[in-house]
Amino acid sequence: MTEMINRLRSLPLQRAAVIGSGVMGAGIAAQLANAGFEVSLLDQAPNELTDQEKQQGKKLQDASVRNKLAAASLERLSKAKPAHLYDTDFIRRITPGNLADAGPALAEADWIIEAVVERLDIKKEVLGWIDKWRKEGALVSTNTSGLSVADMQEGRSEDFKKHFAAAHFFNPPRYMKLVELVPTSHTSKEALAALSAICTERLGKGVVIAKDTPNFIANRIGAHGMLVTLAATEQFKLTVEEADALTGPALGRPKSATYRMLDLIGLDTLLHVIDNVRERSGDEEERQLFTKPAVLEQLVAEGRLGEKSGAGFYRKQKDKNGKSKIEAVRWGTLNYEPSQSVQSPIIDAAKAAKGTAAKTKAILKTDSASPYAQFVWTILKATWLYSAKQVGIIADSIVDIDRAMKWGFNWELGPFELWDAVGLRQTAERMRQEGEQLPEWVEEWLAAGHESFYKQDEEKRFYVHSGQYVKEVQERDVISLAALKASGKTVLATAGASLIDIGDDVVCLEFHSANNAIGSDVLSAIRQAVPEVEQNWRGLVLANEGRNFCVGANLVLLLMEAQNGDWDEVEDIIRFFQSSMLRLKRMGRPLVAAPHRMTLGGGVEACLPADQIILSPETYFGLVETGVGLIPAGGGSKEAALLAAGRAEAARDALSGLNLQPHLNKVFETLAMGKASVSGHDAKKLGLLREQDRVIMRQDARIAEAKRAVLELDRCGYTPAREERFAVAGREGKAVLKLAVHSMLLSGAISEYDAHIGSKLAHVLAGGNVRSGTEVSEQYMLDLECEAFLSLCGERKTQERISHMLTFGKPLRN
Ligand code: NAI
Repeated sequence: MTEMINRLRSLPLQRAAVIGSGVMGAGIAAQLANAGFEVSLLDQAPNELTDQEKQQGKKLQDASVRNKLAAASLERLSKAKPAHLYDTDFIRRITPGNLADAGPALAEADWIIEAVVERLDIKKEVLGWIDKWRKEGALVSTNTSGLSVADMQEGRSEDFKKHFAAAHFFNPPRYMKLVELVPTSHTSKEALAALSAICTERLGKGVVIAKDTPNFIANRIGAHGMLVTLAATEQFKLTVEEADALTGPALGRPKSATYRMLDLIGLDTLLHVIDNVRERSGDEEERQLFTKPAVLEQLVAEGRLGEKSGAGFYRKQKDKNGKSKIEAVRWGTLNYEPSQSVQSPIIDAAKAAKGTAAKTKAILKTDSASPYAQFVWTILKATWLYSAKQVGIIADSIVDIDRAMKWGFNWELGPFELWDAVGLRQTAERMRQEGEQLPEWVEEWLAAGHESFYKQDEEKRFYVHSGQYVKEVQERDVISLAALKASGKTVLATAGASLIDIGDDVVCLEFHSANNAIGSDVLSAIRQAVPEVEQNWRGLVLANEGRNFCVGANLVLLLMEAQNGDWDEVEDIIRFFQSSMLRLKRMGRPLVAAPHRMTLGGGVEACLPADQIILSPETYFGLVETGVGLIPAGGGSKEAALLAAGRAEAARDALSGLNLQPHLNKVFETLAMGKASVSGHDAKKLGLLREQDRVIMRQDARIAEAKRAVLELDRCGYTPAREERFAVAGREGKAVLKLAVHSMLLSGAISEYDAHIGSKLAHVLAGGNVRSGTEVSEQYMLDLECEAFLSLCGERKTQERISHMLTFGKPLRN
């Protein structure tokens, strides 16, 4: 299998066609473009001209008329927020067209994706057209949410059927990891493996194999869970706010919890799913479960569909002062009232507990008479029993069910993982006492003396399958730091970071402080790690499994010292940060950083000393210190000046010599505006990366990829970085930067205080008051950084900015 996947990985699949340029078609086309595919995005050709087109003298045969649906979709795609494309330039990889004229494009495509409206007759017609044009061996998939895949391929050629399956993407395809692959009895093993390999290796998604049953895995379990939650909300007389407070992060699920999530996906969409399962299911019990709740029917009948119609379970209203306020539906009347924040010791206990298992237990173990505890127990019990009953029906493996819920609904733990964590045997006993019938396979599993569905053995995990434990096939190239730590691979640790053996004589430094902010605990781990790596290991990876890689330096202590006027203390903090980064930079072994998601301020400064940075596609990378009234002073400003000097050096020619200014302007703009990238690719555009840095497609493979890069650097005969001297733009360069700041101030684009910080930054990046082209040392630049930082710390407006950020998590522009 591995050999097959390796072969598939290197297949030159380059051309794709996506049919249907709606929400999903456009999103899938964007993800294909992100992965380097040339994509034809096709929709219907209109049957008649609009009045406006007639007035413009257009004809029905004009390409601008025939391709207009897909072209309009591309237009929307280029403006969508959050962005579907990693880089706005990738839009050039997508060509709009119409299906009727797209025969040649279909004939060239290696993979054709059908994403038209959810109607069997229309999908069948489109698939017939594809069959007519596709080249032999081309893969074909449908993005149906829940239609029968077998019904769809009726009447198609043998070669078509062999290469056809559902590939169900989740919305939005860039951000949601899950793809459910649903083969038919005709789909060849090779075609399924090829689809799986492309979705994982090329598109960076996570694949589960589902059976051809209504709504497949995630939407089936998810919709059932929503129905159960609606019923339990009513049963225990909770408000929608209370139900959301209990079914969001308190259970390791997204903040949108249940009702806010329903508003997002659309109440009518849930009704469609319910109808589909009920109508297509042959099971009476299932038909009962998927009965439409009266509340939902009434809201939909009244046009209250959720966000898209402006009101659902919640709505946003403006009060008489024009201020937005949120209102929530009241059960019974279905009138709106101001949304109430939910305060309760149970929710506090869940918040205080660490990890999903502990949070869930904290809720369940509270006074069992509490309606909150009973509500949560009712939902979990129903979800666990339903999921267990579906094994063998919607999917063969509990792993696929757990992964589908984690990747498609963003649950921290899948239903079986959470059931294990809360305690399988003891909850099963409680269910029996409450008169529930557990699925036969679960009873047999417990009777055989097993205590859990999963079993961890060193780094390997086993799961129950057909009455025995079988080894879980891990996702390729996923190194789990949590599993390594659990199996005793920690080499050293402080409160803020750990050094972990990740195999092949490579270690990973993992930050795990609050928000992964860099404070003295993280810095002291760095100081301890460097000699350890130099003596005993081939190299170091800097990566972690936190929500974000690092949100910056820990500002709490800094603010305290600044408010007390303890300048020596503030200087000590900066110097310790700077020298720790220098220790990393000069380490005698290769260092590769693999940031993900938010990587801000100090997080970027920790990456820049690395020999290589391997970015995940979802990396929001930026030296954003100006937002808190500061400039980067942990080596970040120095590294930015170095980047500009390096680029100027590379562009030097005999005629014009060394021209630092354009390169300095670019990094100055990025830092002064506190810009952060919207993806890994975008970080390159912001000028914060070096030639050797690269972006990978698979976020979850980042640690394995970084380790591979460390080993490669080691094998190539690694030489550590030496103290660098480099040219700066000096006072002339500073004058140009300050002029830009001044004109922004005059145009009203920035505040007086922004301009003040901008001038300080200009001074540092230009290398102070030396003559243009002067070569300076890294230490000289660090001293400039430190001086500017200290002076800004003393300013009231900077302290206000820091304090605002610590309180509200947002920058203050004062
Ligand atoms: P949509 O309504 O946004 O887009 C459908 C597109 O198909 C429209 O642009 C329409 O013009 C086009 N179309 C209709 N008939 C066509 C034909 N004969 N030839 C070419 N194009 C044609 O729908 P959406 O939401 O993008 O859904 C598409 C498919 O994806 C459906 O099967 C849906 O169930 C599924 N899906 C939707 C998800 C969602 O969140 N919206 C999530 C996952 C799957």
